[in-house]
Amino acid sequence: MDIEFVAAASPLPAKSALARIVFEGSSLDGDLAQAAAASRFTGAKGQTLDILSPRGVEAARLVLVGAGKADAYDAMGAETAAANAYHAVKTSGLTTLRLELPNGGGKNAARAALGVRLASYRFDKYRTKEPAEKKPSIVRTQVVTTGVDGALADFAPLAALADAVSFTRDLVSEPPNVLYPAEFARRVKALQSLGLEVEILGEPEMMALGMGSLLGVGQGSIRESQLAVIRWNGAADKSAQPIAFVGKGVCFDTGGISIKPADGMEDMKWDMGGAGAVAGLMHVLAGRKAKVNAVGILGLVENMPDGNAYRPGDVLTSMSGQTIEVINTDAEGRLVLADAVWYCQDRFKPKFIVDLATLTGAIIVALGNDLAGCYSNNEELAGNLIAASNTEGEPLWRMPLPAQYDKNIDSMIADMKNTGGRPGGSITAALFIQRFTNGVPWAHLDIAGTAWKKPSAVPTSPDGATGYGVRLLNRMVAEKYEG
Ligand code: BES
Ligand code: MN
Ligand code: ZN
Repeated sequence: MDIEFVAAASPLPAKSALARIVFEGSSLDGDLAQAAAASRFTGAKGQTLDILSPRGVEAARLVLVGAGKADAYDAMGAETAAANAYHAVKTSGLTTLRLELPNGGGKNAARAALGVRLASYRFDKYRTKEPAEKKPSIVRTQVVTTGVDGALADFAPLAALADAVSFTRDLVSEPPNVLYPAEFARRVKALQSLGLEVEILGEPEMMALGMGSLLGVGQGSIRESQLAVIRWNGAADKSAQPIAFVGKGVCFDTGGISIKPADGMEDMKWDMGGAGAVAGLMHVLAGRKAKVNAVGILGLVENMPDGNAYRPGDVLTSMSGQTIEVINTDAEGRLVLADAVWYCQDRFKPKFIVDLATLTGAIIVALGNDLAGCYSNNEELAGNLIAASNTEGEPLWRMPLPAQYDKNIDSMIADMKNTGGRPGGSITAALFIQRFTNGVPWAHLDIAGTAWKKPSAVPTSPDGATGYGVRLLNRMVAEKYEG
């Protein structure tokens, strides 16, 4: 999608659709008011009204897009309305979308452009037979603004964000026969072109570090487990203490010997959504040259049943030295995070660690598919995450880490076991990870419900991979940890 910012007087290109964003209750001129009245269009959020060959308008197609009440309209409103405008005309056959915003200053114009970039994301590389008329035809968006230069400047970091979210969505959407750990690692390695430093550790290196927990999960797969270490040193002092992010990257989760039911198992290609989000975050930090030192660590494995697979009953020794009795091989994400989180704090001594993981079905039972769970041992970090999540439209809900449940993961024969039973399943998973943080300020985001949407009701997030986490983390870094 090409994005342009133009003045109202600039000539309308051929094959343009015009979208006018209107507030609820605002007055429309003659013909338009009549059309609105004839279709119950009031300008409420999410409404659109398509008008063909409108009198007195140069474009062959005009779409009125409701933006809700004027006094509640903000940058997010501009973003959502722009995304709705795009969906209204995307397969019209027209090639340019021209957007007219009510407050067309630079900031809103830039956010509208972001809305169209995110809404127009598609993962279509494996379709070979899609009829042309089903494909989106809009290839260019012109946002009308009173401040072209300001909009361009405001859009630069948002374009980097859109690139990063697309990168994450691509990773999450790729089928598991294509995106196995080494391929994921290769795609992350390619981010060196953005100025990131990327190291890939293979099984021999992880063996030498004593990562028996992560390696245990991957040992039933013919694909080699990988640990990706991504660094961005954008702070003035390149040796200043970094902030750190760790992602669960289970490229496919069959459940292992504790195998999952067949129904819906294909969704488990998405079990690397946490690692995908961390990779996307590092992408945007580099893309917009963020003034921060940050580390991203991805634990990349495939959880398969096999003659060499780990078993329920096995005892694994983690890099921390703590031993883990495996009760269920399907509770593998926490085993991957145990070593990745320990390694992170041990090597980088970060200010804090945020881990992201599609960790438990239980968080979906608790919070549904719109909210991710946020667990933290640190009030400031949790507050910063939740504030950022609200402004970016990636909602988080704080969950408890009750000390009295910690004993639920004590084992009869080892230091702990990898499941705490069904009650509070997302909580005991978080308590498990907490045992590998070594007291560092830490937050765990359980994104099992939010990493994909099928179907999606969010106009900036097409059905499938959402890229959840990239926006909220990028916002938190920008507002609290830069400079
Ligand atoms: N990857 C799953 C969690 C998951 C479930 C993500 C549904 C997205 C949608 C995770 O590895 C898992 O299997 N968790 C088990 C843990 C249980 C065995 C203690 C679960 O949630 O059932
Ligand atoms: Mn599992
Ligand atoms: Zn999993």
